[in-house]
Amino acid sequence: MRAITYTRNGGPEVLELTDRPTPEPGPGEVLVRLAVAGVNPTDWKSRTNSPPGPEGQVPGQDGAGTVEAVGRGVDPAVTGQRVWVWEAAWQRPWGTAAEYTVVPLRQAVLLGAEAPFELGAALGIPFLTAHRCLTLGESVPDRMGPGSLTGRTVLVQGGAGAVGNAAIQLARWADATVVATVSSPHKAQLAAAAGASHVVDYRQQDVVAEVRKVAPRGVDVVVEVSAARNAAVDAQVVGMHGAVAVYADDGGAEVTIPVRAQMGPNARWNFVLVYTEPERAKVIGVEDVNAAVLDGAVRVGDAAGLPLHVYPLARTAEAHRAVQDGAVGKVLVDVTA
Ligand SMILES: NC(=O)c1ccc[n+]([C@@H]2O[C@H](COP(=O)([O-])OP(=O)(O)OC[C@H]3O[C@@H](n4cnc5c(N)ncnc54)[C@H](OP(=O)(O)O)[C@@H]3O)[C@@H](O)[C@H]2O)c1
Repeated sequence: MRAITYTRNGGPEVLELTDRPTPEPGPGEVLVRLAVAGVNPTDWKSRTNSPPGPEGQVPGQDGAGTVEAVGRGVDPAVTGQRVWVWEAAWQRPWGTAAEYTVVPLRQAVLLGAEAPFELGAALGIPFLTAHRCLTLGESVPDRMGPGSLTGRTVLVQGGAGAVGNAAIQLARWADATVVATVSSPHKAQLAAAAGASHVVDYRQQDVVAEVRKVAPRGVDVVVEVSAARNAAVDAQVVGMHGAVAVYADDGGAEVTIPVRAQMGPNARWNFVLVYTEPERAKVIGVEDVNAAVLDGAVRVGDAAGLPLHVYPLARTAEAHRAVQDGAVGKVLVDVTA
């Protein structure tokens, strides 16, 4: 099969188009013929920092395609089903920038007949991260679905990012009021298209004042992309028993939190790494995200505030570079091209 592989850490130039044996599904695993792979910041960070094994590493956690074959113990009836794949390359060599990947059955989730593969490939890392952020608070339920956030307000810091977009779409599906911050009029349009009812330009406006207009008693959840820069704002807008869910590390920056001010609301500051979240949270996240897909509640593309940038497999290095350079929207690889 054709696969992108790297055998040493480095920049996008270490990614090579290679011809590799198609992997065999082991017990409990499925072989997925991929159509589209998603590219996330974690892919270039792993390529840069995590040493590949002796056989080389195929990058890519997320993807979508069709089950081609099953391993021992897996119902053969799943063969031929359309699926979305999550965490394919987490501590495994077979990522999604290839014609085929193998994953444990639970990491290949039925996509249904309607959802496009582009959506399936955009789900894993961003939507599971967003789900975790939106459900870890004390004043919100740990399950999401229509109505689960009725009467609640969510602040999404960085609403035009991939995770920010997912958080807006999921929170709207759950009937929350969603406030999003952005840095430009173009990004404001994207956050609004995703479903944010209130969009604040953090470069031009007073975020605390704007959020307080929408939620005078504070917000229930802050989905935070830049705690190092936004902690002071978050501390002023988080409401009683609210949560600040920090999912990005600002390149290793440290955060200062005003402790006494956060004791009053019993605020919860929670750090998120999607790979190592508690097992129950992961199971629920996959189920709820899939329910949102089957409901038709989450989408990709301009109309959903997530412009697509699609590269053929042979140009995966350019796709990595685009993500590394902060592409606005969702970067995908068409592995069939
Ligand atoms: N913990 C996890 O499990 C996990 C999961 C997924 C992603 N991540 C990490 O999260 C980060 C974002 O991922 P992504 O895929 O969403 O990236 P992305 O699509 O590039 O989005 C990042 C967004 O954050 C915005 N932003 C940056 N600084 C901001 C600030 N001070 N206030 C508000 N918004 C700000 C950016 O826009 P402006 O700069 O124009 O504001 C951009 O829209 C990456 O570092 C990634 O590695 C972590």
